[in-house]
Amino acid sequence: MIKPIASNKRNGERFSKTFCEFFAGIGLVRAGLEPSGWRCVYANDVDPKKKELYENRFGIDDRFHLGDVWNTSEVLDRIVERPFLATASFPCVDLSPAGYRRGFEGEHSSTFFGFVEILARLGERGPKLILLENVTGFLTSKDGADFKAAIRSLSELGYAIDAFTLDAKYFVPQSRPRVFVVGAARDLEVPGAIRANATDWFGDGFDRAIERADAAIRPRRIVPLLRSIDPPPELIAFDIPIPNAKIAPLVELIDLDLDQKWWDEAQVQKHYLMMNDKHRAIVDRMIAAGESFVGTIFRRKRGGSTRAEVRFDGLAGCLRTPRGGSARQIVVAIDRGVLRMRWMSPREYARLQGAGDYPLVENEVQNLFGFGDAVCTPVIRYIDRYILTPVFDRHSNPIEPRLAAADSNRRMKDPVISA
Ligand SMILES: C[S@@+](CC[C@H](N)C(=O)[O-])C[C@H]1O[C@@H](n2cnc3c(N)ncnc32)[C@H](O)[C@@H]1O
Repeated sequence: MIKPIASNKRNGERFSKTFCEFFAGIGLVRAGLEPSGWRCVYANDVDPKKKELYENRFGIDDRFHLGDVWNTSEVLDRIVERPFLATASFPCVDLSPAGYRRGFEGEHSSTFFGFVEILARLGERGPKLILLENVTGFLTSKDGADFKAAIRSLSELGYAIDAFTLDAKYFVPQSRPRVFVVGAARDLEVPGAIRANATDWFGDGFDRAIERADAAIRPRRIVPLLRSIDPPPELIAFDIPIPNAKIAPLVELIDLDLDQKWWDEAQVQKHYLMMNDKHRAIVDRMIAAGESFVGTIFRRKRGGSTRAEVRFDGLAGCLRTPRGGSARQIVVAIDRGVLRMRWMSPREYARLQGAGDYPLVENEVQNLFGFGDAVCTPVIRYIDRYILTPVFDRHSNPIEPRLAAADSNRRMKDPVISA
């Protein structure tokens, strides 16, 4: 049953709390948005295996459009209700250092421009807010030229831009830094945010606000990158505090019972010998001391040989799609002097993406591909809490101009950006 939804009418425009989810994958953006009342009016992905997972989780209806984002007319025909927000976790494979590094010349990551084409063709029916998500390699691909091209195209469509990073490790025990770009239609009020534009960068507190923000959210390289775009986009800095949620320790997300598919001794020994001397020494010491330990291993090519790299920092490595086998994560446990290892299970992948109760399908590899590619749900919830829902709410209930002026004066005096 479709839930009742918030809606608003302003300047003759009526909006519901609706969104379109492009590059929807298995729908973890949607999973992060729905709890605060966002309603998905359209989802798109080209992969039928992702669609199967998505529909397993959200139910089968005609909102999921299985098709290429470049089929612009088909996509436009399917967007019947105007979205307030459009999200796009476009493919990272050409932007990631672990991928091909072809940048926007690659056929995968350049699908971003299929999304831009749709925004352009939606015209007046276009969303007021945009949220992009990608790997941090998006900032460095082609020495920043790809990132700048992406921002320029959103700016040309009339969006003011904020860009920041958030790591899933602030919410779950997984290292997963990601870049997020928010585009806000220029006529939107952006509560708590500071605006800057080409002619006024130095006058309105924007610089000081950015400088005071924690490097974890606004790495130094983002600001000069945004500044070097020609023509200069209008910029915004949303007020995003540094997350300080209590995080479940990795050991609570890993199944340690003997019913799991633990490897036989030969395979454990093989991976033990693949560790470098330093890691093997730490493992030896913990076994000798009878200590308990739960961690993860990635296999990596180092100087012509494959190494089993153990993480001892309480975090799982960044989940990836298990192409070629080496990208699949391994669980390592030491319990009363016994060293055990096995492949990480799809359920553990789901937990590490903050979606522990997601219904899985039979095919293990399909589940792993789905979750390895996905966004970490609590990160989306966080962005929703501090940016998306406040912007929607302000648009629904605009404050009086007199109060808005007072609010803006206060911010100019004390443009503190973190909590
Ligand atoms: C990074 S994943 C998105 C993951 C998603 N946010 C989630 O949480 O599952 C990128 C997605 O883009 C999809 N994709 C790739 N090329 C596409 C195209 N031409 N049209 C539509 N979707 C495409 C892939 O199938 C993949 O699911």
